[in-house]
Amino acid sequence: MLILAIETSCDETSVAIVEDGQRILCNLIASQIDIHSQYGGVVPEVAAREHIAAITPLIQQALSAATVTMSEIDAFAVTRGPGLIGSLFIGVLTAKTLAAVFDKPLIAVNHIIAHAFGAFLTATPPSFPLLALTVSGGHTALTLYQEDLSFEVVGQTQDDAAGEAFDKVGRLLGLPYPGGPAISAAGEQGDDQAYHFPTARLQNPLDFSFSGLKTAVLRQVQAITGVNPGNLELKQTYSLDKQTQADLAASFERVVVSSLVRGTTAANAKYHPASLVIGGGVAANTRLRRELTQALPDAIFVPTALCGDNAAMIAATAFKMRQNGLVDPLIPLMADSSLAVL
Ligand code: KG4
Ligand code: ZN
Repeated sequence: MLILAIETSCDETSVAIVEDGQRILCNLIASQIDIHSQYGGVVPEVAAREHIAAITPLIQQALSAATVTMSEIDAFAVTRGPGLIGSLFIGVLTAKTLAAVFDKPLIAVNHIIAHAFGAFLTATPPSFPLLALTVSGGHTALTLYQEDLSFEVVGQTQDDAAGEAFDKVGRLLGLPYPGGPAISAAGEQGDDQAYHFPTARLQNPLDFSFSGLKTAVLRQVQAITGVNPGNLELKQTYSLDKQTQADLAASFERVVVSSLVRGTTAANAKYHPASLVIGGGVAANTRLRRELTQALPDAIFVPTALCGDNAAMIAATAFKMRQNGLVDPLIPLMADSSLAVL
C-alpha cells in the first residue's frame, strides 16, 4: 500500500511516499529555518506563504524521486493538527484536493502521535502497549498507546514544552534559532556543573515543568550582564562570552535531560510497556539519547533524521490508522490548530 503524506504544521513543508507504513520511498523536507531565523522564531504568515510556494513542486519532486505516478498512490495522508492554522490549511486543502481528484481515501493524522509512531520506521518496530516520550517544540508528554491506537496521556509538561524551553533559552544566550541544536552544540564546549539550575518538583512524578528553569537561566544571565530582565527577551542588548554561553547551555541542558530521563524511567517502571519509544524534535538531542539509553537500554529512538517534522512519520501513522479502520471521512476534515492529544 502506497501512501503519499503531506506535513505542513509549522516551518517545514514535507512530502513523503511510504510503502506499507515502513519502507520510505522518499521523504522530502523543504525547511524554512533560514527565513525564520532572521526573526528569531517562526512568523506564521511567512510560514503559510512559504508552504504555498513549496507544496506543489515538492509533490512533483516526491513522485519522481519515488518513481511512482499519482495513479499508483493508494491513499493520501495529511497532518490535521496541532500546529499553525495558516500552515495546516495549505497541507489539508492540498491533500483534500488530491484525494477528491484521484478518488482515494484521505487519512487525517495528529502530528504529535506521528512523532511517536515515527518509531515504526526503524529496523526494530515497537510493539504495543507502547509508551512514548514525545518531546517537541509545542508538546512534552508521556503517552501510553494500545494496539487499537487508543491512548492515555500519563504525564505532561505543566507549562513550557522541552523544545520551547530550548528555543527560549537559546534566545537568552544569544544563540541562533532554533535553540535546541544550537544549545546542544554550544554545550559540548561547556561545563555542565558551572551553574546549578533547579529541577521542578511536581506532584505527579510523570509530569514535567520547564518554565522555572528558564526563569533561573534568565536570572543568571541578568546577574552576569547586569541587564534588566524585561529587556532580556526583547532584544539582545548584551553579549555573553563564548565560554559563559557554553557553560550556561551545558548546565541548562543537563537539567532538562535529567528531568526527561527521570519522568520516562518512572513511567516505564509503572506501566511496563512492551516498547518504549522516544520521538519529536528534541529526541534528536545527543545528550538525551545517551542518558536515556544508559537508563533504559531497550528504548527505541526515532531515527535522528525523522525526529523533526516530516511527512514519513505521517504516512507511517496513517498506515496504522488505516489498519485499524480509523480513517476520517473526507468532507468534514478541516485543519485544527489546537487539535487535542492531551
Ligand atoms: O518536533 P519539532 O520539529 O516541531 C514541533 O512539532 O514543535 O520540534 C522542534 C523543536 C524545537 O524546539 C527545537 O529547538 C528542538 O525541537 N530541537 C532540539 C534539537 N533539535 C531540535 N532540541 C534539543 N536538541 C536538539 N538537538
Ligand atoms: Zn513536530
